[in-house]
Amino acid sequence: MERTLSIVKPDGVKKNLVGDVVGRFEKNGLSVAALKMIRLSRDEAKGFYIVHKERPFYESLTDFMSEGPIVVMVLEGENAISKVRGIMGATNPKEAAQGTIRADLASDIERNIVHGSDSPESAKYEIGYFFSSLEIVNSGK
Ligand code: CMP
Repeated sequence: MERTLSIVKPDGVKKNLVGDVVGRFEKNGLSVAALKMIRLSRDEAKGFYIVHKERPFYESLTDFMSEGPIVVMVLEGENAISKVRGIMGATNPKEAAQGTIRADLASDIERNIVHGSDSPESAKYEIGYFFSSLEIVNSGK
């Protein structure tokens, strides 16, 4: 059993895709262990994406991530990290496999609807960024 963090980004919330995204995870055997809607400040978005601080898209990405509400969730299941990444598809929707969230729903490489942790280390950091241990429920599955 593994846990990962996923986010429905501001573009996904704006397009009313929260239920669609969560439904795709649940249909693929993942369970929601925690979930909330929040709005990040620019500094909070910068802290979340600190690993990308040297990238040319850091400013634009953190502007985007703080432009409106997001839904953050902890997902639990076997191989949750790689499973979520498979369901999301490649970062660039133009390269994402058919049937993935980004191929079906995203408009560009930055506004790509959804985020998922890319390793056990980032999952630990990202889950702890948004949730205390008291807010995460063991799904018991
Ligand atoms: P995410 O999986 O949340 O991880 C980092 C995010 O940065 C990524 O999704 C995109 O939203 C954004 N991103 C990655 N590469 C680029 C790029 N080349 N140009 C703009 N944004 C990018």
